[in-house]
Amino acid sequence: MSRFRTLPKVELHLHAEGTLEPELAFALARRNGIELPFASEAELRAAYDFTDLQSFLDLYYATTAVLWTRRDFDDLLWAYLQRSAEQGLQHVEVFFDPQAHTVRGVAFTDIVDGLGDALTRARTELGITGGLIMCFLRDRPVTEAARTLDEAATRLDALLGVGLDSAEVGFPPGPFAEVFARAAQLGLRRVAHAGEEAPASSVLEALDTLGVERIDHGVRALDDPHLVERLVREEIPLTVCPLSNLRLRVVDDLARHPLPAMLAAGLKVSLHSDDPAYFGGYVGDTFDAVARSLGLDDETAALLSRNAVAGSFATAERKTELLTAIERWLTGPR
Ligand code: ADE
Ligand code: ZN
Repeated sequence: MSRFRTLPKVELHLHAEGTLEPELAFALARRNGIELPFASEAELRAAYDFTDLQSFLDLYYATTAVLWTRRDFDDLLWAYLQRSAEQGLQHVEVFFDPQAHTVRGVAFTDIVDGLGDALTRARTELGITGGLIMCFLRDRPVTEAARTLDEAATRLDALLGVGLDSAEVGFPPGPFAEVFARAAQLGLRRVAHAGEEAPASSVLEALDTLGVERIDHGVRALDDPHLVERLVREEIPLTVCPLSNLRLRVVDDLARHPLPAMLAAGLKVSLHSDDPAYFGGYVGDTFDAVARSLGLDDETAALLSRNAVAGSFATAERKTELLTAIERWLTGPR
């Protein structure tokens, strides 16, 4: 059993669509009368051999086509929450990609209501808190993002914030500045993927043009010492996903992942799973994989969890509760 199983964990970088396991993908395909371009679950799983982010995104968007109804989105996230509860998950801020569904004709409200149903149940049955962060697809037109924000404006009760994801190289953050400014006016928190495949300048541009409070990935920030200094000074959280970086070949070996260098630089790094169904591990598995490849003592594991709490959008009361639980894990009997 994992040494870190009972360490309270917070997921800040988790795509709902990236939790779609092959078994559920086929079950939903049958339920909705959809043909997946794979003969079996094993054949689908065998296709998880990615060469870069785009090769993954092609498959990710193809399989999300099985998601249609409010119940589908509920079933998807509930399966993730149950599985992650067993690995010590306490709080999760869930990314989702509405445009991947609304362009196919799925109703925006069915997506947020279905995901919301699962989060409500998680709170009462599993003690897990959380919220939803709606991501704009950076490789689709800004006008489509603006229309998506219009829909979100009618459902602000259901959302914590907005993010930016999908193909990074060739799709800089700048053009989304106005959409993000309006999201801020609506009271939404702001985060963005940056410095995953694109260079450190992408992180700088996300900070300066979108006003983001967290950077998702940010591993390439290390290439720019001035940027690192700023991220440290401004205590910008970086949500790092080592298993994702390995499977998308951002790094060629987990043992050479920049996580130790990021911690040594004083960056506010935390550990997450990104798209766990595709990358070989949920949040607890991620702690275990880091421990195996890079070494992870209890103090550092607790620091990574503490950083996630501090960088989260949880209430002050919930943050105190989580920080207390982490200290109890570190100092008490397990
Ligand atoms: N969408 C889902 N996972 C992603 C990732 N790792 N990077 C960018 N967009 C994504
Ligand atoms: Zn991501």
